[in-house]
Amino acid sequence: MGSLRMLACGLLLGLNLALLVLETDGQESGMKKVKKQVSGRGPVNLAHQQRGTWRPLMQTRANLSEVKSIKSMFELRTLDPEGAVFYGDTNAGEDWFVFSLRNGIPEMQIAKADILVSAIGGPKLNDGQWHQLGLSNEGKFVILEVDGKQALVVGLESNKTEEVMTGQIRLALGGILVDEKKLVNPFVAEMDGCVREGNWLNLTSPWETEEVGDLMPCFDAIKPGTFFSGAGLSVFRTSEIPIGSEEKGINIDIWAESSNEMQGAILNLRNDEQGSIFSVRANNITKELTLTLGKSSTVLKLGFNKLSINMLKDRVRVSLDDILSRAIETPDYLASWKAGIFLSFGGIPDEGDDFHGSQYLHGCIEKIQIQGKDVDLDTAMYKHISISSHSCPA
Ligand SMILES: *[C@@H]1O[C@H](CO)[C@@H](O)[C@H](O)[C@H]1NC(C)=O
Ligand SMILES: *[C@@H]1O[C@H](CO)[C@@H](O)[C@H](O)[C@H]1NC(C)=O
Ligand SMILES: *[C@@H]1O[C@H](CO)[C@@H](O)[C@H](O)[C@H]1NC(C)=O
Ligand SMILES: *[C@@H]1O[C@H](CO)[C@@H](O)[C@H](O)[C@H]1NC(C)=O
Repeated sequence: MGSLRMLACGLLLGLNLALLVLETDGQESGMKKVKKQVSGRGPVNLAHQQRGTWRPLMQTRANLSEVKSIKSMFELRTLDPEGAVFYGDTNAGEDWFVFSLRNGIPEMQIAKADILVSAIGGPKLNDGQWHQLGLSNEGKFVILEVDGKQALVVGLESNKTEEVMTGQIRLALGGILVDEKKLVNPFVAEMDGCVREGNWLNLTSPWETEEVGDLMPCFDAIKPGTFFSGAGLSVFRTSEIPIGSEEKGINIDIWAESSNEMQGAILNLRNDEQGSIFSVRANNITKELTLTLGKSSTVLKLGFNKLSINMLKDRVRVSLDDILSRAIETPDYLASWKAGIFLSFGGIPDEGDDFHGSQYLHGCIEKIQIQGKDVDLDTAMYKHISISSHSCPA
């Protein structure tokens, strides 16, 4: 049993997908909370509905007495540099383990008795290829293997730690079960990634998810970009996007190699008083790009690689592939931006706060920049589950 000692850190896992409705327990914001069983090897898409981004997609628990293996193994594929992958805890959540990516590199954060550690190391994993990962506890060490090679080893010891061989172990994917304020090194929790071939401590206990709809499937192959499947939108509050100096206005650049195939609203600005004040919509049949300001519209051609929107104090300038196509007089959008209006990608939001909308976008956007900085849709105040923030089907 000595080799099981570090299990108390809670390093574990196991999955395999077969969905069936298990139980209905209680109400959550008027919606029925249905727990679905997900047993598992995967593939599992870690994307989930944003009801608190730290919440795991799925979780399981087992009695420690049943744990016979010290190792969890799985494959991970992502283009997302940052997010929660795997979590485990024991001792009623007092001792915990978090495995995540930061800048694409593995990170482990471990709490055990009075010790709190974080360690980052190993190869970049966010290259869109499947990587085989192994996490194990051997004596005082927590070991991460990547593609069969040791990548990161964390040793920890405290006189306060005791072997906990009783009680339960909880495992989670795509989120954490400990208060995020306890992390040594906080991160953006949302993860656009897929996990398959999971073997979590050789456990056979079923996993559960509280997702209301179906889990998202994994694309067969992926390429960099943000994929909008035509089912939902994302929303940012502009006051949370710093714009720096106002002199050159606000620049939004959108790269889309296959703009010809795009259908729906690419971008929209909305304020509470007037509703939609500016929108850019693509039509893949007429191959038109329609700019709408208030009630007036103007039409450009699809087929661009780069769409640039420059908002100045009194006008909006729209360029395609760095050639100015339209300059349209507007009220002072800069002031509105600073005060805080809603910027959406992938649809036109309805009135109200429920993030429903229309004209949802179908297509792949390679990159979005605001003031020259990449926009990460995982940081949006709302992102529909159908949007893959860092991957398009290849
Ligand atoms: C854990 O053990 C208790 C009794 O010791 C049992 O009632 C329970 O069903 C077990 N839980 C699991 C997940 O096996
Ligand atoms: C894992 O489980 C399988 C079947 O349940 C068993 O054959 C194997 O020995 C177990 N491995 C370990 C390390 O416990
Ligand atoms: C644990 O206790 C021993 C003596 O009881 C001491 O030598 C050692 O430094 C302690 N280790 C830690 C990590 O506190
Ligand atoms: C236009 O978009 C729809 C999705 O809204 C898609 O099914 C269709 O294939 C696209 N057509 C072209 C010609 O790209």
